[in-house]
Amino acid sequence: MVAEVINGNEVAKSIRAEIKIEVSKLKKAGIEPGLVVIIVGEDPASQVYVRKKGEACNDLGICSETVRLPASTTENELLALIDNYNKNPKFDGILVQLPLPKHISEEKVLLRIDPGKDVDGFHPVNVGKMVVGSESYLPCTPHGVQELLIRSGNDPSGKHVVVLGRSNIVGKPVACILIQKAKGADATVTICHSRTKNLAEMTRQADILIAAIGSPGFVKADMVKDGVVVIDVGVNRISDPSAKSGTRLVGDVDFDAVKVKAKAITPVPGGVGPMTITMLMQNTLKAAKVHHGWKD
Ligand code: GUN
Repeated sequence: MVAEVINGNEVAKSIRAEIKIEVSKLKKAGIEPGLVVIIVGEDPASQVYVRKKGEACNDLGICSETVRLPASTTENELLALIDNYNKNPKFDGILVQLPLPKHISEEKVLLRIDPGKDVDGFHPVNVGKMVVGSESYLPCTPHGVQELLIRSGNDPSGKHVVVLGRSNIVGKPVACILIQKAKGADATVTICHSRTKNLAEMTRQADILIAAIGSPGFVKADMVKDGVVVIDVGVNRISDPSAKSGTRLVGDVDFDAVKVKAKAITPVPGGVGPMTITMLMQNTLKAAKVHHGWKD
């Protein structure tokens, strides 16, 4: 079997077209959705993500502001800035790009964002709502993974999903979303991590394998069963002397080896990445609708 390569760019494009129509409806009624993205420090990967978020906003007609702060910014300065944006009605969504410099508490920062503007879905209030299955802002990457599964014809309902990784940004929330008693979910989920025994035995049981550990090419062909659907959330920059920049991006899956056994697989780049930003746009649109009492 040679896998279908799931084109995240195409899926993202069709969702963005839907969002664009919604945004223009709101704008006709005098409502302009707004997103502020705050980045502290110079992390190169974060710089790229933040630029892409701004570009996506421009493309969809969402008003965006990017605040770039030096790595020397104090925690109090950042918290005060968040307070201002919490009060500013021009912005429906506030996103603080992670990771933050070590002297700033991520937990404190995420707690300070108004849960109603938390388009990242990282505030404990929204995390709690996600767990109990009530309406909330879902974290963008896990929600993007769910949408990608559904829209590529791989509904997780009744399937055994094995999640590799237990981060707060991907592993835990994706598991939580996919076990919900809901359309596009209803999966049986196993979460594996660095202390899991007999890992390959676990991953071989997956109908759907979601890799989110940040280890380049970690998932090998002998770790999956024939016909598996593989969603690769990893974004790892490795050295590649043949590339112009001297580096290239790879996922957590040994793509060429696993592709031969899989039913479907996402590439890196061009798989989950574009979906993450698309879900952020969707959350920003949703926040604008809520803030203006918009009824569909
Ligand atoms: N860093 C890596 N992924 C994310 C994300 O989804 N949101 C934010 N704010 N930071 C990130």
